[in-house]
Amino acid sequence: MRIPCSPGILLMIVCAGSPVLLARQNPTLQGHPEDYVRADIEYGARVFTEQCAACHGETGDGVAGVNLRSGKFKNAVTDPQLRTVITTGFPAAGMPAFTLTPSELTGLIAYLRNMNTFDRGSSMAGDSTRGRTIFDGKGACLSCHRVNNVGSRKAPDLSDIGANRSAGSLERSLRDPSRQMFPINRPVHIVTRDGKVINGRRLNEDTFTIQLADEEGRLISVSRADLREYRVSTTSTMPSYEKELSAQELADVVSFLLSLKGQ
Ligand code: HEC
Ligand code: HEC
Repeated sequence: MRIPCSPGILLMIVCAGSPVLLARQNPTLQGHPEDYVRADIEYGARVFTEQCAACHGETGDGVAGVNLRSGKFKNAVTDPQLRTVITTGFPAAGMPAFTLTPSELTGLIAYLRNMNTFDRGSSMAGDSTRGRTIFDGKGACLSCHRVNNVGSRKAPDLSDIGANRSAGSLERSLRDPSRQMFPINRPVHIVTRDGKVINGRRLNEDTFTIQLADEEGRLISVSRADLREYRVSTTSTMPSYEKELSAQELADVVSFLLSLKGQ
């Protein structure tokens, strides 16, 4: 049974699930600099300049009575609350509601939590034009991936990857693809009852069928009843670019990926 919350001492004991107290117990909800990924902070800094600095200023103190740089907010304690503040805005007080992609929001939160220590001068901000050149050229990403109807179907279509994945997780995908791989993308090896071997990438599974993209990128549906062997691997077939590309080049490619938001 839940005991209703009431002020006073009871609140301290009974309402331990309330956001403020929870934040005190769990430091990660307060937002500590070490909890945020550098790539997210850098992306957030860019989004802030584009969407927020006109009112709040680059230093975060452009609105009277609001100091974003302090990392403490009157209207939000936890990160989820901060998200709500940003997406709802304060229309009556002059801040519009913002429609942002999950990647942009993740970046903004990471940046707001680290605004006081983030040094733009030492930032390795990625350049999406340079990133595109690496993507098309030395990275040979299109030999497996597809963007806006160009490239191969062997690997996931990346046309809207920038809207869905945070800067930090994109960087991890490039450095350590297997660790970052989503279960749905796992490589599969199938042998059918009549001896046919199919290798490919898992797209979907239900009770009766498995859908996959084979090595040529063709979409295939196999009935479970027809399987002799079915193996799912947790090792990605994507190479790691950790050594292949410099830190600056990786930042450039991440910047290009973040610019892909569908059409
Ligand atoms: C058109 C001007 C304007 C823009 C653009 C704007 N804000 Fe604001 N923001 C305000 C005003 C005004 C307030 C103070 C509202 C109040 O006092 O009730 C505010 C308040 C806030 C607060 C609450 C501060 C606190 O201490 O609780 C946060 C967080 C915030 N803004 C973040 C952002 C972010 C992030 C962006 C960009 C996505 C942004 N704002 C864009 C005008 C703006
Ligand atoms: C040899 C083929 C191959 C090459 C080359 C390759 N990838 Fe991948 N990539 C894959 C496969 C297969 C997956 C799906 C499995 C996984 O997530 O690791 C993937 C996944 C990804 C993902 C995650 C997609 C998602 O939906 O989660 C990103 C981002 C990505 N690749 C970016 C790149 C970039 C950028 C390059 C070039 C610098 C590149 N890849 C080169 C095969 C490749």
